[in-house]
Amino acid sequence: MEKLPQSRRKFITTLTLLLASGGLLVRYLTPRTPVKRRVLVCAAAAAVPPGGALLFRSERVALMRDDTGFYAISLICTHLGCTVVVTEDAITCPCHGSRFDRHGKVLTGPAGKSLVKLKLAVINGVIEVFDS
Ligand code: FES
Repeated sequence: MEKLPQSRRKFITTLTLLLASGGLLVRYLTPRTPVKRRVLVCAAAAAVPPGGALLFRSERVALMRDDTGFYAISLICTHLGCTVVVTEDAITCPCHGSRFDRHGKVLTGPAGKSLVKLKLAVINGVIEVFDS
């Protein structure tokens, strides 16, 4: 293999370092675009009964309320995607029988993962539930 002359090697090394650091600098200085969240459902906070739930069947979202406050869970079963059914004590899947507690944690399979908790915001008495 041919040896590069010292000045050419130094030039290539310097150029490589400049390009790498320039790329990092551009990435660091470029403002990150905020993640756009889509509002799935929106409801008056007063419409969610304490200890109860407000269901949005077409959006497959349950807006729940307990002692700690409001939370929202996806009604899409984590096994194969059926729409789960919310009852007073649990959430069940009609397709293969998975059961979840009211916070979406798996009680019995075949689903292996909890139902997805959705982000929400309460602004001036209105709850907005987001898709991510
Ligand atoms: S899709 Fe819900 S248990 Fe299979």
